Amino acid sequence: MKRQRKRILITGGAGFLGSHLCERLLGEGHEILCVDNFYTGAKENVLGLLDHPHFELLRHDITFPLYVEVDEIYNLACPASPVHYQFDPVQTTKTSVHGAINMLGLAKRVRATILQASTSEVYGDPEVHPQTEAYWGRVNPIGPRACYDEGKRCAETLFFDYHGQHGLGIKVARIFNTYGPRMHPNDGRVVSNFIVQALSNAPITIYGDGSQTRSFCYVDDLIDGLVQLMASEAGFTGPLNLGNPNEITIGALAEQIVTMTGARSSIDYQPAPRDDPTQRCPDISLAAERIDWAPGIGLEEGLKHTIAYFEKLLLNQ
Ligand SMILES: NC(=O)c1ccc[n+]([C@@H]2O[C@H](COP(=O)([O-])OP(=O)(O)OC[C@H]3O[C@@H](n4cnc5c(N)ncnc54)[C@H](O)[C@@H]3O)[C@@H](O)[C@H]2O)c1
Repeated sequence: MKRQRKRILITGGAGFLGSHLCERLLGEGHEILCVDNFYTGAKENVLGLLDHPHFELLRHDITFPLYVEVDEIYNLACPASPVHYQFDPVQTTKTSVHGAINMLGLAKRVRATILQASTSEVYGDPEVHPQTEAYWGRVNPIGPRACYDEGKRCAETLFFDYHGQHGLGIKVARIFNTYGPRMHPNDGRVVSNFIVQALSNAPITIYGDGSQTRSFCYVDDLIDGLVQLMASEAGFTGPLNLGNPNEITIGALAEQIVTMTGARSSIDYQPAPRDDPTQRCPDISLAAERIDWAPGIGLEEGLKHTIAYFEKLLLNQ
């Protein structure tokens, strides 16, 4: 059966995840409107799509209203790494909150289903492990990460209130650490940081003693999850954890990247930043049950693709 072509708006479409999502949905035959203010994203991320007849790129800041006709909205616009979201914290909260209000208003007007890219940061520094969707989180409302964490929490509130009050079709994904090609090379995220440092034979910076754990999901798996969540049954809203539950210590990740790149890097230990979670790992049983999703790409394979991307990027700089 031929798939129905939809008009899909992707905010933050020129960012890391957004550009992969544009590519995927375009490949499935849909019309894509990519909206981005290029705060952390770049036109280069979607350069290969610009000539596609079903792709349109619009420079726009979602803290201002947008009037377009679409069938589905993926709301991804928001700086995602601490370096970027803490640079202008007021703008970060505005993007999450005003941006959500604008995109929800649009979805309500045109009766589109809207998916929110929420985050594991809504769990803050968790007391339960791994985190299920039922956990309410432990977030410092006035800490340096609050502009992002609380902004995303408020966006979730808005999504569920639009759903309850106006019957809007919503989907909320709580995304855990994701990595892959097109991550920003200087945004302080751990995978890109370690790879760039290793490829330059520079010391690998570990904040804290390296015993804190994270779990990393490869971008292709995550995009599968977002698309499957959007396609899930009408009444299913989430929130739904999407991430890879395989935990690794930051120290072990550094070692693996050093080995895979053949780097001669030493390890440089620096104090842990304030409110840095010590452990972060998703419980993804709900995703298995409701959208039949689980990540399939292991860390070694994902790192191989990511290292190859950064090798090429550094060579061309
Ligand atoms: N990558 C991850 O590990 C991860 C984890 C959890 C949640 N998320 C969420 O997924 C989404 C995408 O993250 P990413 O990793 O691709 O980050 P990214 O910074 O690469 O992408 C965000 C995009 O949003 C754009 N943007 C920012 N503010 C905007 C505004 N006001 N108007 C229009 N565009 C704006 C940026 O220019 C960028 O292109 C974010 O909402 C983020 O919070 C990502």
